[in-house]
Amino acid sequence: MITILLLLKLLFMSVSTTTVAAAMTSATDTTAVFKLPELPYEMSALEPYMSEETLRYHYGKHHQAYLNNVNRMVAGTRYEREPLEEIVRESDGALLNNAAQVLNHNIYFLTLAPEVAAKHEPEGALAAAIKRDFGSFDAMKVQLAKMATSLFGSGWVWLAENKNGNLVILSESNAGNPIRHGLTPLLGIDVWEHAYYIDYRNDRARSIDQLWNIIDWRVVEERYGKR
Ligand SMILES: [Fe+2]
Repeated sequence: MITILLLLKLLFMSVSTTTVAAAMTSATDTTAVFKLPELPYEMSALEPYMSEETLRYHYGKHHQAYLNNVNRMVAGTRYEREPLEEIVRESDGALLNNAAQVLNHNIYFLTLAPEVAAKHEPEGALAAAIKRDFGSFDAMKVQLAKMATSLFGSGWVWLAENKNGNLVILSESNAGNPIRHGLTPLLGIDVWEHAYYIDYRNDRARSIDQLWNIIDWRVVEERYGKR
């Protein structure tokens, strides 16, 4: 009798443990190959330039959806053991589009910082390269903004570095990323409507004008020269 009770108890413990483990896996997605980067700021910290609502949708829904698609598509393939950058370099079709959007948004969200914490102008080697290649920091911002406002439809405008350390600005439709051209992305401006429509409606130009307040050039400096 004691043996039967002991077996029943062990069986109950086993089922309970499995159920709890399954629930935890489901809640935290611990088996996912790729995960969203943790944001180093609160959801409301970029206000008034980027609202909490925009961030909750853009990071929490759009970025998460691209990530979920990638995790579903790489499962059981050689890509689940590769860095995201390699997937963007090597893949095509739907996997490329979703992987590039994950990478693009990782770069984008980690470039932002609350206005009081952000470094508003680059220094050092990056500042020197900007002056050399664009004439001035302001002239570079004008070029980036002009390309971002004139890009037709959805896409990204990038400040990138080539293999010689020169800076280039490029406009990419949809999910385009500079690494597909052998360039290192330094700063990406998301001009998909989902990036600005909640806060700025159809005024893309104003959304870009306001974005400068929350771009942290310290992060961009750290990316420069890492080629
Ligand atoms: Fe986006």
